[in-house]
Amino acid sequence: MTEPLKIGIAGLGNVGASVFKLLEQNGQLLLDRTGRDIRVTAVSARSKGKNRDIDVSKVKWHDNPVEVANDPNVDVVVELIGGADGAAHDVVNTALALNKPVVTANKALLGKRGGEIISLLKKSTGSVSFEAAVAGGIPIIKALREGLAANNINAVFGILNGTCNFILSEMTRTGRAFPDVLKEAQDKGYAEADPSFDIDGVDAAHKLSILSGLAFGCVPDVDHIDIKGIRKITALDIGFAADLGYKIKLLGIARRTDKGIEQSVEPCLVPKDSPIAATEGPLNAVYVDGDFVGKVLLMGAGAGGNATASAVVSDIADVARGRALPLMGMEGGKVGVLKAANILDRIGSYYFRLMVLDQPGVIADISAILRDHKVSLESVLQRGRDPDQAVPVILTTHETTEDSIQKVAEKIGQLKAVVEPPYLMRIEEFKS
Ligand code: HSE
Repeated sequence: MTEPLKIGIAGLGNVGASVFKLLEQNGQLLLDRTGRDIRVTAVSARSKGKNRDIDVSKVKWHDNPVEVANDPNVDVVVELIGGADGAAHDVVNTALALNKPVVTANKALLGKRGGEIISLLKKSTGSVSFEAAVAGGIPIIKALREGLAANNINAVFGILNGTCNFILSEMTRTGRAFPDVLKEAQDKGYAEADPSFDIDGVDAAHKLSILSGLAFGCVPDVDHIDIKGIRKITALDIGFAADLGYKIKLLGIARRTDKGIEQSVEPCLVPKDSPIAATEGPLNAVYVDGDFVGKVLLMGAGAGGNATASAVVSDIADVARGRALPLMGMEGGKVGVLKAANILDRIGSYYFRLMVLDQPGVIADISAILRDHKVSLESVLQRGRDPDQAVPVILTTHETTEDSIQKVAEKIGQLKAVVEPPYLMRIEEFKS
């Protein structure tokens, strides 16, 4: 009989408690599938008294999470504390120094300290698995690193934050205001401890950096991601986007171009009949575009305790089977530094929301700015007429460069009749 695999869990939030439950509930199934009895032997969390709906009385409790890594009765260290620094970092470093496998859902740690982890792994016989770090329950890490290993990847993109997708879906469906829907997302356990990480695009950027690292064989590089969140999106934008045949989604996009890898997280208009537009609520959807396979789409629960626990335990099952894969899908020495393209060179079409005083000549002035920057207009929409108040004018453009569109936005913002800075979003038709 093989020895049981002893698991220590550092962090018993939503995900940690669900991992504990899953290992209990599906223990026999996991034994049948992996040949190992997987048992939690130690845990750590900030508050011992908190009601988590799990019975931790039979496992060792550590007040200090690093002691989970140090515990000789722990074979695999599951780090579910989160954050690139502090306790999470110490737990992972300690486990690797002791040559123990680490399973983590920590996107910030991988996104910001991927290079450091690769260096630590060179000196350790431990491993780091992180299926749960990206897109909750969707097995996108296994898909990229294993199922699609034969392909040169052209692009990886999609909806990577369940909280933002829930908020945008609810705002579209019900017309409710942003703060009200954010509160609901927090109550449902989708949002990060600091929800600004979700709504300002930081969480999605950490995840995109990991996908990009796997797709292009490089160290995750969150510093070269152009990040915009969803705070500025209004009911007006959602309504106009619908009139134009689009929905608004927060997308993470990493694309290989002649000039390097383009990486961005930003709200985009997507065709309303596309699979991405049909991805609603806390679901995530990730496309991978490979040179032989073409486009592959994975969709599923991107947030929430149970879905994320499914991903965490899939990594534990790999450890139980004795499988460990190179962190970024490349043998150590082959992991490169991401060559970032200049985002200003990016080509795309754009949506502009302007608030303008309804005076003769305003559209002529705007058109002149577009002409001077060689930006071609696709459509103009104006609703309402009020000589005393600003009215919304929506412009969409044909393809141009990000550089031109930024200059156009700046010039339009300087016009006297334009009463607030133009709001810009990309239109993503998923042609490449
Ligand atoms: N806050 C994250 C989200 C949870 O909303 O997607 C999963 O990483």
